[in-house]
Amino acid sequence: MLKDEMERALNEQLKWEIYSGYLYLSMAAYFENLGLQGFSQWMKAQSAEEIMHAMKFYKFIFERDGKVVLQEIPAPPKEWKNPEEVFEFAYKHEQEVTGRINNLMSLAKKLEDYATENFLQWFVEEQVEEEASFKEILSKLRLIKNDPQGLFYLDKELSQRPLDFNLLMTQV
Ligand code: FEO
Repeated sequence: MLKDEMERALNEQLKWEIYSGYLYLSMAAYFENLGLQGFSQWMKAQSAEEIMHAMKFYKFIFERDGKVVLQEIPAPPKEWKNPEEVFEFAYKHEQEVTGRINNLMSLAKKLEDYATENFLQWFVEEQVEEEASFKEILSKLRLIKNDPQGLFYLDKELSQRPLDFNLLMTQV
């Protein structure tokens, strides 16, 4: 059974995973407005992946005989100067998420909650991938410097990211 402190912290992270999904959906809408459908597709897929992350916390809390308590989700920003600024914002956000996962891991260790430690290990590895994928696109955008032709090609590349919500949910 989960200790109260751990249960509260896991519920808090469930909220931040949903917030991440909400933030990336806001970014998808920003790109959609610019007519960059590939960027928008990539962000929609990322948003769906964050909901999958949230559902992992949801499932784990129940498996440990804990209580899922959903919280208020803050409204995400909706305006950025350009695509580069969007990915700078998103990359920083992922670094914050990594910090939150690390704090959860520290708490699990302090409470000698080995099951939670084991569960969180997946997220520790996932955050390495998450940061790397945002950083890769940010680096390309810095090279392109909002050149329309470069954006057009990157948009085509990003449109290749698959978006299959049902497939994602099989990972929960
Ligand atoms: Fe669920 Fe992108 O961290």
